[in-house]
Amino acid sequence: MSHETKAPDPAPTKKARVVRPFDTRCEMTWIVMPGDCNALDTVFGGQVCSWIDVCAAVAAQRFTHTDVVTAAMDQLVFKAPIRRGKVAVLQAMVNWAGRTSMEIGVRVEEECPTTGVRTQTSTAYLTFVAVNSALQPIEVPTLAPHTKDEHRRFREAEHRRADRLAHRARIQASRGAP
Ligand SMILES: CC(C)(COP(=O)(O)OP(=O)(O)OC[C@H]1O[C@@H](n2cnc3c(N)ncnc32)[C@H](O)[C@@H]1OP(=O)(O)O)[C@@H](O)C(=O)NCCC(=O)NCCS
Repeated sequence: MSHETKAPDPAPTKKARVVRPFDTRCEMTWIVMPGDCNALDTVFGGQVCSWIDVCAAVAAQRFTHTDVVTAAMDQLVFKAPIRRGKVAVLQAMVNWAGRTSMEIGVRVEEECPTTGVRTQTSTAYLTFVAVNSALQPIEVPTLAPHTKDEHRRFREAEHRRADRLAHRARIQASRGAP
């Protein structure tokens, strides 16, 4: 009888997990209270930023199942205000994933509680990085777009990432960084 023991299978890497963008969705809603507002009775921009960051972080963690940090927030456009007494609706989803980073798109809308009509007020794109307990970047799972829209968002996110990295490289070069 053989006493050979079979070597244990290697632990699956994060990349082995395959996640659909749809499964990372996060929707958050708030009734806009006076404490959320500026002197114009519309939501303070910093409050919108904070809501966006939280909503994006939940989507990122639904994707990675790890800790994540915000690396960058760009293209935050305020198209319309969100007024006191209305409902703020945020929807986030992972658009693209690289080795350790991912892009999350967030759409912000104002919903009228009496008519249900929603108006888009902001969009934002954030880069999150998955990190370990030492806050070092770690691999993320594979993102597998399925629908036409998911493929479009993935492609567009690749363009934004290329622009972001090129922009960072230009700034570093202009400062004489290595
Ligand atoms: C984000 C952070 C972990 C990245 O660390 P780093 O040493 O620069 O790591 P790397 O250079 O290996 O980059 C890791 C990934 O992030 C991406 N990245 C880093 N900075 C980026 C930026 N400004 N824009 C876009 N992508 C960025 C890299 O392209 C890389 O992606 P990839 O692995 O998918 O190819 C580090 O900068 C950090 O800790 N920042 C502070 C985060 C924080 O405090 N956020 C606020 C509170 S959550």
